[in-house]
Amino acid sequence: MELQTATVLFFLLPFIIIFIFFFFFKPVDKPIIRRSKLAPGPWKLPLIGNMHQLVGAATHRALRDLARKHGPIMHLKLGEIPAIVISSPRLAKEVLKTHDLAFADRPQCLVSKIMFFNQADIAFSPYGDCWRQMRRICIVELLGPKSIRSFQFIREEEVWKLVESVQYSLGSAVNVTEKLLSTAISITFRTAFGKRFKGDRELMNLLKEAVSWVGAFDVSDLFPSLKLLHPLSRMKPKLEKMRHEMGRIIQELIVERRDSRASSNGREENGGSCEGNILDVLIRLQDSGSDLDLPITDDNIHGVILDVFLAGADTTAITIEWAISEMIRNPKVMERAVAELRLALKGKNRVHESDIKGLSYLKMVIKETLRLHPPAPLLLPRECREAREIDGFAVPIKTHLLINAWAIGTDPEYWQDPESFIPERFENSSFDFIGNEYEYIPFGAGRRACPGMSYGLANVELALAQLLHHFNWVLPYGMKPEDLDMTETSGAAAKRRNDLYLIPTQCND
Ligand code: HEM
Repeated sequence: MELQTATVLFFLLPFIIIFIFFFFFKPVDKPIIRRSKLAPGPWKLPLIGNMHQLVGAATHRALRDLARKHGPIMHLKLGEIPAIVISSPRLAKEVLKTHDLAFADRPQCLVSKIMFFNQADIAFSPYGDCWRQMRRICIVELLGPKSIRSFQFIREEEVWKLVESVQYSLGSAVNVTEKLLSTAISITFRTAFGKRFKGDRELMNLLKEAVSWVGAFDVSDLFPSLKLLHPLSRMKPKLEKMRHEMGRIIQELIVERRDSRASSNGREENGGSCEGNILDVLIRLQDSGSDLDLPITDDNIHGVILDVFLAGADTTAITIEWAISEMIRNPKVMERAVAELRLALKGKNRVHESDIKGLSYLKMVIKETLRLHPPAPLLLPRECREAREIDGFAVPIKTHLLINAWAIGTDPEYWQDPESFIPERFENSSFDFIGNEYEYIPFGAGRRACPGMSYGLANVELALAQLLHHFNWVLPYGMKPEDLDMTETSGAAAKRRNDLYLIPTQCND
């Protein structure tokens, strides 16, 4: 009998050990993650995963349609890359607030590595000390309230130049898209380099090309394990050529600024005001370096300058363009915005920034524009730094995170008549731009939210006010408002697919 018990015990021992191990030595860190499953998602094809479902319609629309079938947290495979897509305010709050730190990274891709000088910028920089320092500099020194005020005269002059150039084309169709982009680049150029943009075609074309690359994926990004395919990439040489050209232009401007600083013997230009441009501030910090945790490299300067152009100029132009497009389609909104301006300006010719404060309807028009047409409808992609569980689903480390800000801003559960352009919905509402309400996040939220929000809005408000104050705008070729094509481009930036052409006529009152 004793022998029998001993034999049974002998056979049971391994099971007892395993039981004890799992019972007492359960991993203490995130046990739930091991048990929870991945979020639901559409059926995946071998190799390409869900990529075939994202071609055709604008990506944010395709993702919204998929989310309606699979839920507000959806798991996708982009080639070999796992991704989750968030499409509800509740879950946006969870990833951007509760788990902000875990999702504070940006994924690496060929574009960010090559074009953004090995991610030495802010927007594509991995989460860490370098990003923290550059972002702090951006918020405190480059785009803070003091700098925004000091750039006011640049905005006013450049927007006035826009008014003058439209004046030449009264009565004929004007390519509004091109004019807005050129004004946004001119403002950015002067704030970045402290000198006027002379309409340099080479730089203009380079910037346009650079914008079109943001958000593009290379074969090496989507199939990192298929190394044999990587040399076939046609993107790499193009990106390298562009970085070379861009680097050369920025470097020339840096040398020029250094020379002019040296010849002025450190004295600030423009009467000693702090209107030193962005490049000057970066050079000063690089040279002094005393209060910095890390030295500022030339790559940092190149990267930040590129951020300012790509994240700043295009978004500004896109927002004004959509606002005008929506007002053309909704003439009553246009009438109310113009009436408000006339009343506020009381016969004055030029709009100054001090006039903007009281233009509450214009501000609502801009809010509504950013709800229906956020220039970055999927924000910027993030990457999971630590495994997390979101809404009961596992999100493993390195998963990419996309937040569909456009789907959230047009969710019928939160917005009445969501597809209509109704600025009045913001009357007496508590929605602001800083991402406190997760139903409305055109600038993102949390640690990686847009640091250029106030600067960007100042440009948008002034240009829009000035264009409405000086001209009546009508569609060419006898088109009716409802004929205006509102199709968006696909990709990281949702701009008009077709340029906006309008006929300006002189306002008589
Ligand atoms: C209407 C204008 C603008 C809109 C709608 C906009 C929107 C955005 C969005 C959605 C993000 C991503 C936020 C996230 O991941 O949560 C972002 C990031 C960023 N934006 Fe803007 N932006 C605008 C203007 C500007 C301007 C004028 C600048 C600079 C001059 C700028 C610089 C940046 C930078 C550097 C980042 C990256 C922040 C980081 O990763 O830490 N943006 N912006």
